[in-house]
Amino acid sequence: MKRERWASRVGLVLAFAGNAVGLGNFLRFPVQAAKNGGGAFMIPYLFAFLLLGIPLMWIEWTIGRYGGKYGHGTTPGMFDKLWNKPISKYIGALGVVIPLLIGSYYLYVMSWSLGFAFYALKGTLTSLTTHEQINAFLQGYQGVVQNQYFHSIWPAYTFYLIAFLLTMYVVSRGVVKGIELLAKIAMPTLFLFAFFLMIRVLTLGTPDPINHPDWNINLGLGYLWNPNIEYLKNGKTWIAAAGQIFFTLSLGIGVLQCYASYLKEKEDIVVAGLATASTNEFAEVILGGTIAVPAAVAFFGPELVKTGGAFDLGFKTLPLVLGKLPYGWLFATLWFLLLFLAGVTSGVALSQPLVAFLEDEFDLPKRKAALIVAIALFALGQPIIFLFKHGVLDEIDFWIGTVGLAFFATLEVFIFNFAFGTSKGWEELHRGASMKLPKIFYYIMRYVTPLFLTGIFIYWLATDAASKFVMKGVDPADRPYILAARIAIVLVYAIIAVLIHIAWNKKHQKEA
Ligand code: ALA
Repeated sequence: MKRERWASRVGLVLAFAGNAVGLGNFLRFPVQAAKNGGGAFMIPYLFAFLLLGIPLMWIEWTIGRYGGKYGHGTTPGMFDKLWNKPISKYIGALGVVIPLLIGSYYLYVMSWSLGFAFYALKGTLTSLTTHEQINAFLQGYQGVVQNQYFHSIWPAYTFYLIAFLLTMYVVSRGVVKGIELLAKIAMPTLFLFAFFLMIRVLTLGTPDPINHPDWNINLGLGYLWNPNIEYLKNGKTWIAAAGQIFFTLSLGIGVLQCYASYLKEKEDIVVAGLATASTNEFAEVILGGTIAVPAAVAFFGPELVKTGGAFDLGFKTLPLVLGKLPYGWLFATLWFLLLFLAGVTSGVALSQPLVAFLEDEFDLPKRKAALIVAIALFALGQPIIFLFKHGVLDEIDFWIGTVGLAFFATLEVFIFNFAFGTSKGWEELHRGASMKLPKIFYYIMRYVTPLFLTGIFIYWLATDAASKFVMKGVDPADRPYILAARIAIVLVYAIIAVLIHIAWNKKHQKEA
């Protein structure tokens, strides 16, 4: 079966950027930076970008385009081509399992921004004026409690269904008419909204000159950008920066490889990769860094930002801030639509690897593959939604969304460098490239990136993972649910592994 190809250079860069630009740029990055030394965070961030992010990104693009040449859109087939050993395709299974599992909760989280955009437009959200009220609103929405705002989870569920069906519709239309078209519409709109919000935040001035004359936008910007060099001495800052680079560039998931499998054989991946990464960094550092944190500091002072997580800032603090402005409902609506657009372009990306796997390895037609993926994502999503209050989502996010990515990327980099060979990989990366990369990147890819990755992975295992594994601090009532989530992860892996086994057996029969 003939595989699809991205229709244009602009379209493919927007699609890759749509995959990368997500909630991480607008929520996670500013909070990570603010909590880890402000401007000083940018030093390890830049190091991680150059030594880990960019090289790994080129490696994933190279692996993807190489696999696509042989008709494989996912890492089981790609790794099999890189390293001709039976185990390689089962390592590659992770590149199908990880996006599937992340996708199953990502679509739900992304639907919250759609729901909140609706309540912002209605004026409900900006009528809430205290932290207690907005907290109760969010908890009611998520079904954690029943209160005066929500009696059930059904409103949230309705928005989930809308977001889910939209995502599946786009995926079922295929790479060019679905994903690429969505990116061409969503990405420029997202940038427009972000510019608009950025300008509004930069013109906030001193919101409450009588009670808090020194809380102003300059303080907010300074809070994020003035370097506190002390933080550089702390290993945690470096790990946080590397983690953010991973998250924001969507590395170690399996999606970049899948998207790259739809590239033309001679597409310039050196330049297209750089263009994508730059677009992502612009959205992250310039736009993401200017909106949420500076606005929150100008209104509520620096203390508040130190205490809340990424999610609190975007879903609780920012609506309160925007609610105080004239036409606040409009800005709040734009903010949540912006998050939704950022989310939906990443949501389709997470759904695509399993679709590609079924199309390429089982010769299923696109629509049938998309239907199966929809059923799988939906089935996995239900316990995550209804058992949300028991911490199921967080559990899967930790093992898959944090540790899983580093684990998969580490194995991948070793296969690329030491099984396939860095020289062959380097040549493959430069096929069709209009510029040659400085040779130093060759050595970074071969030595620095694997070391860096192994270090991060071991650090996570030794710190967070150990206490997570023994369920430290988990309410005993939640433990069975957490255990069930872990079993589900193993089962999903087992199912994909069996499918790989079946597909490869069939292929051998065909070849014989
Ligand atoms: N890269 C995506 C983000 O930043 C996952 O949200």
